[in-house]
Amino acid sequence: MSVIVQYFVIITHIIIIASAFKISSKSDDISTEIVQTDNKTQPQQIHLSLGDNPTQMVATWSTMSPTDTIVRYGVGQLVTVHMGTMTNFSNGVNHDQYIHSAIMDQLTPNTSYIYQVGSGNPNEMSKIYNFTTTPIGNNWSPRFCVYGDLGFINPQSYSRILSDVNKGMYDMIIHVGDFAYDLDSNFGDMGDKFMRLMEPIAARLPYMTSPGNHENAGNFSNYKNRFRMPNNDNQNMFYSYNVGPIHFISISTEYYFYVNYGLMQLLNQYKWLAEELKTANLPENRAKQPWIIVLGHRPLYCTNSDGNDCGIAADWLRYGVPFIHLLGIEDLLYLNGVDLAIWAHEHTYERMWPVYQEKVVNSSTPGQPYFNPKATVHIVSGSAGCQEDHDEFPQVEKDYSAFHSTDYGYSRMTVYNSTHLYFEQVSDDQKGKIIDQIWLIKTKHGSFLND
Ligand SMILES: [Fe+2]
Repeated sequence: MSVIVQYFVIITHIIIIASAFKISSKSDDISTEIVQTDNKTQPQQIHLSLGDNPTQMVATWSTMSPTDTIVRYGVGQLVTVHMGTMTNFSNGVNHDQYIHSAIMDQLTPNTSYIYQVGSGNPNEMSKIYNFTTTPIGNNWSPRFCVYGDLGFINPQSYSRILSDVNKGMYDMIIHVGDFAYDLDSNFGDMGDKFMRLMEPIAARLPYMTSPGNHENAGNFSNYKNRFRMPNNDNQNMFYSYNVGPIHFISISTEYYFYVNYGLMQLLNQYKWLAEELKTANLPENRAKQPWIIVLGHRPLYCTNSDGNDCGIAADWLRYGVPFIHLLGIEDLLYLNGVDLAIWAHEHTYERMWPVYQEKVVNSSTPGQPYFNPKATVHIVSGSAGCQEDHDEFPQVEKDYSAFHSTDYGYSRMTVYNSTHLYFEQVSDDQKGKIIDQIWLIKTKHGSFLND
């Protein structure tokens, strides 16, 4: 991030806080660019996401003219037909698009389905895609591709991720913010191109998302409209869901920096996050989903020499907003025993030692820092590829940084069971070489307070 942007963030914060929490709002961006498209009722930008429960999968797509919303699906045959909903979304008065979403439900676990979306008119239906539902319950080993900061220009890791998907290596894709660079650029044309690029991946696997700073235009209007995350009372900005033995919590770190859109959404998220972590720690819930993993865009911990990202900005996220030092995230993670936090934003990969309040917290087992660690493990995976440069690391390293790389790449994670989580980093620069790997082993999950 540039110094100018950092100054903007700081000044915005000061103005907002000095004005005694005056809350403002901003309507979606309006422009007058005309975007020409052919086949305006042909479905495009098709992607999947998890539904509100394991028997659902949600298909989302766009057309450039209004039309009906239908999904056909089934096992081997397109025998079930569901109507969906259509939303008009505008990046400009002459660039309306129509975002369709339809739920496939009553799905059988661990089963391959085929599906097709469109208006119902044979000339306006998509190609037939397939996906596989997850097993039910928590006794299976979900596999994830995880990354942030993937643009339409220079999406270096894209081909390798697609190749992995073609090999059936993942159950899900997790993209922790910064899409397309940017979804709203050229009046949404960049977002359309990016979502078309992603279709061969995202139409076959749930594509789970978190908001980043590059989505900030129009109070994150492109992000809010283009995706459909589960349990979506907050327009995809913060939500949670279960996958096997994992309880995922996705948050907006951007609420801490784009307070020009109102401070109340930050307050709402903080209150929700505290309650969400409390509920996830109820014995009956943590027994089923022992792993709690928090996903968000900007890191609480990183060591890049990238403006104030790993300094003041990380401080705000850890300890709270300036001056009043409230709404910090780190104590919530620590008190509620969040096992792993995955961030992006820095265009690099970095793994931390278990850390709390900027101090490495040693394991009780010498030589095994990730065996029953006594604090949350933070990993930054923001090197998927975009037109912006890598972020560099300083000569003098922080002691909580365990490993870092400026190679383009992405992460793979498999949660084998209630005790063993495997995480590795793929270097695209080094033709798929695994440049980092850890086993995070927890024989007990829960608050770190009494460890
Ligand atoms: Fe970012």
